[in-house]
Amino acid sequence: MVNCEWRIANGELRMKELRGRVALVTGASRGIGAALAAALAGEGCHVALAARTKGALETLAVELRQQFGVQAIALPTDLSDESQVEAMVAATVEAFGRIDILVNNAGAGIYGDVAALRSPDLRATFDVNFFAPVAAMRAAVPHMRAQGDGVIVNIGSIVGKFPQPLGGGYSASKYALHAASGAARAELKADNIAVVLVCPGLTDTEFATHSRISVPGLEDMQGERHAPLRGVPVERVARRVVKAIRRREREVYITLFDRLVVLGAQLLPGLFEWGLLQATKIRRRRFAQARNNR
Ligand SMILES: NC(=O)c1ccc[n+]([C@@H]2O[C@H](COP(=O)([O-])OP(=O)(O)OC[C@H]3O[C@@H](n4cnc5c(N)ncnc54)[C@H](OP(=O)(O)O)[C@@H]3O)[C@@H](O)[C@H]2O)c1
Repeated sequence: MVNCEWRIANGELRMKELRGRVALVTGASRGIGAALAAALAGEGCHVALAARTKGALETLAVELRQQFGVQAIALPTDLSDESQVEAMVAATVEAFGRIDILVNNAGAGIYGDVAALRSPDLRATFDVNFFAPVAAMRAAVPHMRAQGDGVIVNIGSIVGKFPQPLGGGYSASKYALHAASGAARAELKADNIAVVLVCPGLTDTEFATHSRISVPGLEDMQGERHAPLRGVPVERVARRVVKAIRRREREVYITLFDRLVVLGAQLLPGLFEWGLLQATKIRRRRFAQARNNR
């Protein structure tokens, strides 16, 4: 059982001090989630690590315990199964006696033209990217309410702000998560539960490799290089998210470039769409060429 004290700042309870807080991070087996779990442990948070890959979670839990002297537990979970999502939250509360921070980070990509997407693929994407975060919030909020505080972090994407051609199914799942985050923020404010939406852009992880190809012919998207764009390191995302948790920010971008891209999409939608069309033509040509060369 972990005991927490809150500091009062500007008339509001704020997480000035993260030491001793309890954080549940989904998708903690690699990528952004693993970096974020490490960053939170580095701040003194006790962490529950969830994903499907048990070995990676257990290795990280041992590392975090040794390096930071915090408590860390591995919770092997398939988030596409809601009963496992509920069990994950229950196991966190059982182990630590509370849950202060819920990070809905796990996510999966899906590639294909919208008009050709297979429904089972699309549903599987929504299960992880949308239904699991909502189910985790549903399970965690009663505990946060009883505690009188909490922070929920939903990892969205800049493509939850504009549609991504050939990734429309993924974009749609992030749009849904963004909408739910905005509504939940207003609904939970009176309970002193903050909802932070994070919109990363291209980040250096294995995300594309693990994404689902729903439409034949797009297999090369899995190994695609986005040169000259380079993904930002996961540690940078993690640092920014920790800062956002402390400040209970509404919405967070990682780079100025990401922010400007989204602003461009909103202010000049016609021009932005034209740019996307050109980029999509180039990508399709590249994929066709790669197929011909095989
Ligand atoms: N990389 C980018 O450029 C980028 C940009 C914007 C937003 N994002 C978002 O950032 C988040 C993290 O992505 P990442 O880049 O770190 O990708 P990643 O390296 O592929 O990591 C994804 C994580 O989600 C977990 N996961 C996937 N399906 C799961 C399931 N059914 N049950 C439990 N866990 C599951 C994976 O663990 P297991 O495989 O072990 O289950 C893994 O830990 C995602 O929400 C993604 O949409 C990424």
